[in-house]
Parts: sequence; C-alpha cells; structure tokens
Amino acid sequence: MTGVFITVEGPEGAGKTTVLERIVKVLSQRGIDIVHTREPGGIAIAEQIRSVILNKENTDMDARTEALLYAAARRQHLVEKVIPAINRGAHVLCDRFIDSSLAYQGFARGLGVEEVGSINAFAIAEVMPDLTLLFDIRPEIGLARIHQHTEREINRLDLEDLSFHKKVREGYLYLAEKHADRIVVIDAEQKEEVVFQQALAKIEKVLS
Ligand code: TMP
Repeated sequence: MTGVFITVEGPEGAGKTTVLERIVKVLSQRGIDIVHTREPGGIAIAEQIRSVILNKENTDMDARTEALLYAAARRQHLVEKVIPAINRGAHVLCDRFIDSSLAYQGFARGLGVEEVGSINAFAIAEVMPDLTLLFDIRPEIGLARIHQHTEREINRLDLEDLSFHKKVREGYLYLAEKHADRIVVIDAEQKEEVVFQQALAKIEKVLS
C-alpha cells in the first residue's frame, strides 16, 4: 500500500516548523512510519540549490531563475526522497511544495500562476499531495514573529517588503479557494496548541 503525501504551506512566521515537529513526534510514537522533510531541501542536491536561492548576497537573481531553481530542487527531492518513501508505504509530511512556488513566484513575484504552474508540472509529473494544510496568518504578525526569533536565520525572501508578503498571502488564499478539495486553511494566529490540535486532526483523518 502506498503512503499518504501531505504538504504544509504558509507564509513566514506561521509556525509550520514547530507544529510539524510536534505532529511528527506524536505520530512516530504511535508507530506510524512518517518521513518529515522540507522544501527547498531535504536531500543533499536540493539543500545545495536552497543555499543558492536563499543566499542574501544573490541580489541579482532573476525571478524566472528563482522559479526554475525551486522547481529543480523540487524535482530532485521528489524522485530521491518523496516518491521512494510513499512507494514503501511511509507517509510524507513535507514543509512546503508546489503551492509555495505558485504563491511566491506566481503571485508575489508576478510571474503568473499559469506560467509557474507549467514549469512545475514538468518538475512534478503529476505527483500531487493528498492533503495540504495552509497555515494562514497576516504578514504583519508573521514577520513580527520571525524577527523575535533571533535563532532563525533571515533569508533573501524574508527581506522582501510587506507588500510582497501580502501578495503571498493573497496567492495562498486564492489557491485554497480554487483547490478546496485538497487545501485546508488553518488560522495560524490562534494559540500554538490550537493550531497543533487542528492540524493533527486533519492529518489523522486523511491517514485513517
Ligand atoms: P523556509 O524553508 O524557511 O520556509 O524558507 C524557504 C523560503 O523559500 C521561504 O521564504 C519561502 C520560499 N519559497 C518560495 O519562494 N518558493 C518555493 O517554491 C518554496 C518551496 C519556498
């Protein structure tokens, strides 16, 4: 039996990473085979691409180059890690996937959802998540949170202005409406415990 592919999306400071870690811990303690991974990254080649994309010194990076690099990292991560895990029956919990590219590059960078969707269609070759949790938060609140957490490194995209991050959120909400069958919106401005419980409940439902 193949595993379930779940992705978690949201803007900076939505608390995805912390909540995901807690969910993975709980499910693993129940003996469920979970692969926790992230994009861009998760495997050596994609982590190398990540460091190029997010390097604050790469101020000259063209928007299409950026979109292609994310898609390239996605492809490698998918074939090297996600697909083998699903095929052996493990469930994959991935921090970010194609919706990040559609929201950040398609909407916020203004490349267009269709255009970014088509390079990603080439990259993913129809492997789509069974469930996507969208941690929704106003960018003012999300950005304030990341600046409080001094241990988190500020990357090239974090440095974009507020209007960019507002477009990211608009993009995500548009995608959630368009793909209501796959994307579940969770209000990430709630207390972490509540966000955790709601996210866990949705995941348990899809795993059962
Ligand atoms: P994070 O792993 O700390 O969330 O950082 C990844 C950054 O890359 C974040 O700002 C979102 C951005 N991103 C895109 O712009 N497009 C993508 O396709 C992905 C996966 C991430």
